[in-house]
Amino acid sequence: MSEHLLAIDDVAEDFQDILDWAIEFKKMWKANDEIAMNFFPLADMAVGSIYEKPSTRTRVSFEVGINRLGGYPLTLLKNDIQLGKSETVADTANVLSRFLGAITYRCFAHSDVAELAANSSVPVINALSDKHHPCQAAADLMTILEHFSEKDGLKVSWVGDGNNVLHDLMLACGILGIDFHYAFPKGYDPAADVVARAEDYAKQNGSEMVGTNDPKEAVKDANVIYTDAFISMGEEDMKDKLADFDGFQVNMDLVSGANDKWAFMHCLPAHRGDEVTDAVMDHENSIVFDQAENRMWAQMSLMAYLIDNPAWSAMGDMMGVGF
Ligand code: CP
Ligand code: NVA
Repeated sequence: MSEHLLAIDDVAEDFQDILDWAIEFKKMWKANDEIAMNFFPLADMAVGSIYEKPSTRTRVSFEVGINRLGGYPLTLLKNDIQLGKSETVADTANVLSRFLGAITYRCFAHSDVAELAANSSVPVINALSDKHHPCQAAADLMTILEHFSEKDGLKVSWVGDGNNVLHDLMLACGILGIDFHYAFPKGYDPAADVVARAEDYAKQNGSEMVGTNDPKEAVKDANVIYTDAFISMGEEDMKDKLADFDGFQVNMDLVSGANDKWAFMHCLPAHRGDEVTDAVMDHENSIVFDQAENRMWAQMSLMAYLIDNPAWSAMGDMMGVGF
């Protein structure tokens, strides 16, 4: 198993189990199960989270999830620490490893979280970089498995930018053998190395991985339609980009080509009126808030898996989730 989580395929081997664990643990917790509520693999451990960019879901879900696993979270905002001012990523990793049981890091350049991991003696979890958002993909696939119960025959479709969220979603669908179709405007392709990895997983697992520049083609008969901001954090001065996404808005007209029981997903925050309309966001088929909640449960499974694997496995055996 991998020590760090930089992209979702770092946990490819156990990804299905990590999701099954999260789904079962959530059910037990919600039923006030004593064993789940007294599962403290992070007891007396501090987990630090560095943020170079803002966050609502990631920050809150990590802080609450760390507490629920018996640890205590330290949120380290970029203006409050030396990183990026007088101290290197490598020195920061070395210092923080002396105090913390794990580090989560939301950064601009993916190479920074990779460097932090390379110099850390404790697990590093990518909490979003310009290239990957693995915690999001774990929550996304958890939500899809919960919502549909059965993954066979599902078609998941992406309409939008070739960005960090797409990268881990396509890898995650390939790992689980779920058909994945993605539409992006010309010039906004996902990274070629990630596409190659996702295609390899899809091939190994007998599923489709299809890219197109036509949103209608991508969503045809889809069970899940997923979009994200057209302008990501760090691209605020690229407002001209919006014009290139003409026809890529997820609205009632676009979803009319999907399966009758379509579900709408978005990592959030949503930019209502840009990539999605209110009618879709607020539709009874929208599962965006279940998806947001699942950030916490999926991350609890990932943290237990990475930080205290024997405890995670023992809990999995106890829950009978197919280990
Ligand atoms: N989806 C997501 O990562 O949200 P935040 O930016 O609010 O953490
Ligand atoms: N692609 C978006 C995701 C936000 C959760 C960004 O990087 O800003």
